Order: sequence, then C-alpha cells, then structure tokens
Amino acid sequence: MKALAQRTGAQYTRILGFGGYRPQRLVPNSEIVEAIDSSDEWIQERSGVRTRHFARDDETMLDMAESAARDAIARSGVDPATIDGVILGSVTHDMFTPAAAPMLADRLGLDSPVAFDLSAACAGYCHGIGVASDLVRAGSASTVLVLGAERLTSVLDPSDRGTAFIFGDGAGAAIVGASDHVGIGPTIWGSDGAAWEAIRPNVLEDGSPGPTITMQGQSVFRWAVWSMAPVALRAIDAAGLSVDDIDVFIPHQANTRIIDAMVKQMKLPEHVKVARDIVDMANTSAASVPLAAERMIREGQAKSGDIALQIGFGAGLAYAAQVIEIP
Ligand code: UT7
Repeated sequence: MKALAQRTGAQYTRILGFGGYRPQRLVPNSEIVEAIDSSDEWIQERSGVRTRHFARDDETMLDMAESAARDAIARSGVDPATIDGVILGSVTHDMFTPAAAPMLADRLGLDSPVAFDLSAACAGYCHGIGVASDLVRAGSASTVLVLGAERLTSVLDPSDRGTAFIFGDGAGAAIVGASDHVGIGPTIWGSDGAAWEAIRPNVLEDGSPGPTITMQGQSVFRWAVWSMAPVALRAIDAAGLSVDDIDVFIPHQANTRIIDAMVKQMKLPEHVKVARDIVDMANTSAASVPLAAERMIREGQAKSGDIALQIGFGAGLAYAAQVIEIP
C-alpha cells in the first residue's frame, strides 16, 4: 500500500483582530410599535431592545460584510495578501447562489482563498471560529477571515408581533491565525434538529415555506436559558479554566433576560464584563457576537489578553461556544 502524505499546521491559534459594521439608519422602538400593537416599554421590558439598525434599501448583506471585513483587516494589521480563507456565516443571503464568501474575497482583492458560506443561523459566527481554528491547526489555511453578516430586514414581516421588534441588520468579522500559545479554546458545539420548527420561515397557504421569519419565542427562550448555560460551562472546562478565570462574557445577543439568566445559572463572578450590545443593535443573528466583541474592545470593556467566553445559539437548533483571548 502506498502511504499518503498529510499536512500539519500551527499548534495554536488566536483571533488577531475584530471588525464591525453598523448600518447608519437607527430605528427606535417608537418607529415599529404601531404595526405590531406594542409599546416601547413592553419591548424594553421583555427583550431589552431600545433601538436597532436597518440597512438602506440599496445596501446588501455583502456590502455590510465588506465593511466589517475591511475594519477587521485594518484593526488586526494583517496583510490581506496572507488571508487564504474566508468563512461567512449568514442566513440572509442576497442571492441563493453563489455563496457570498468568494464574492467578498474578490471585493477585498484576496488571492484565491478557500471561501465558503456557513449556515448555522445565530451560531454561524462561533461555528466559523471553530472551523477556522481547526483549518489553521490542520494546515489547511494559515489566516482566515470569519464573518457573521445579516440583513434580517430582508426576511422580516413588520407586522409579526413575535419577530418585528427583535431583529436588526449588521456585520461583524474576526481574523484567525497562528499563535505561539492557545488563543482559541476547544469549540463545544452541537444541534437539535428535532426542534427545527422553533425558528423557521412562515408557512404559505399551500404549506410551502414563505419569505419571512417566524419564531416560537417562548420555547426558544426556555431552550436558550436552560440548555445554553451548560454548553458555555463545558467550553470553559474544555479550555482548562473555571468561571473565575473569565474576564468577559459575549453571548449571542438574543434577549437581555436570556443573558441575565445565563449569567446567574453559570454563577459568573461579579468581575465578569457582560456584552449588552442588544440594547442598541437588537438581535443581528450571526453578526451579534463579533459586533458585541468589537464594541467591548473599542469601548475599553475588553482589553488585550482578557479571557472571553463566547457562545452563539439559534435556528437549527444549532449552538457553538468557545473561550478566546481578546486580541
Ligand atoms: O436569535 C435566535 C434565538 N432567539 C432567541 O433566543 C429569542 C428567544 N425568545 C425571546 O426572546 C422572547 O420569547 C421574545 C422577546 C421574543 C418574546 O417575549 P416573551 O416574554 O416570550 O413574550 P410572549 O410571547 O410570552 O408573550 C407575552 C405576552 C402575551 O400576552 P398574554 O398572553 O400574557 O396576555 C403576548 O400576547 O405579551 C404579548 N405579546 C406582545 N405584547 C406587545 C407578544 N408579543 C408582543 C409584542 N408587543 N410584540
């Protein structure tokens, strides 16, 4: 038998830098409440959301991804010529084919990187970090641009009481590369496809999937609160740490009540800084974790070398969590 050759890559990886893009148009609760017979008070009390950003009519998911990618490249100081991988997490594609990642790579002038989209909804970015880290450690790529980019207004029914107030648009990015120490811990991830109907398209009269998103809010809420704290704790354990070692907690920005419940269940110490980007951005699905991270870094809440726990969860149901070092 002939022996095949195999590659090996970097021993360790880390995130080299974050970037983000928040569309200019700021939409307060007051602008959306009439269509859903709701109120600013109800939305703030039940979800924490005060405002969200909506993309311009002519602004695509790819446009937003490009801005976030350029920001991450600038802030990480990485030479774009060295980026040989692009992974884009999204559920709101401008076109059903081709994937957005190769088009993004072209816009950025990258040199024929492996580039593909990843569909894991709100967990897409954390899946992307796990895949990118493994690609670099296996030697399949050396520097990988990972994005979560969503134009949720494309799939939003402004009159749907269960979703119209909770979602927004935006894009976040991070660059993963080799490191001389562990900067990205093991990813704890999984799925529960039996619950796929919890977040799905609306159903048309003939039974086929429609163009807008619907959500069984209460059951997703319960799943997030009860099942995601243990996943996050496993990610800490897999990294060889305890909750006392965590400096920053960056959960998916789905609902401030979910965030508070997770903090309590995990018994995170008082010193842990907790991301609350949802208040201004609402839920941006795959973009929420990288956007929350880039903001905490920009505003000085997360410092270089800090240990951060990040977790994404949503439609699928899919989830992914890992401990990372802040660049
Ligand atoms: O990103 C993917 C993961 N997603 C999540 O993790 C989202 C998880 N779910 C949630 O965050 C929450 O379920 C929502 C924020 C979406 C909704 O909050 P809730 O507390 O679960 O609301 P509910 O559906 O239980 O409704 C409570 C009450 C009901 O009235 P009664 O039956 O108690 O009289 C609803 O009719 O609030 C009423 N209601 C509303 N009132 C004003 C429902 N929607 C609205 C609304 N405005 N938009």
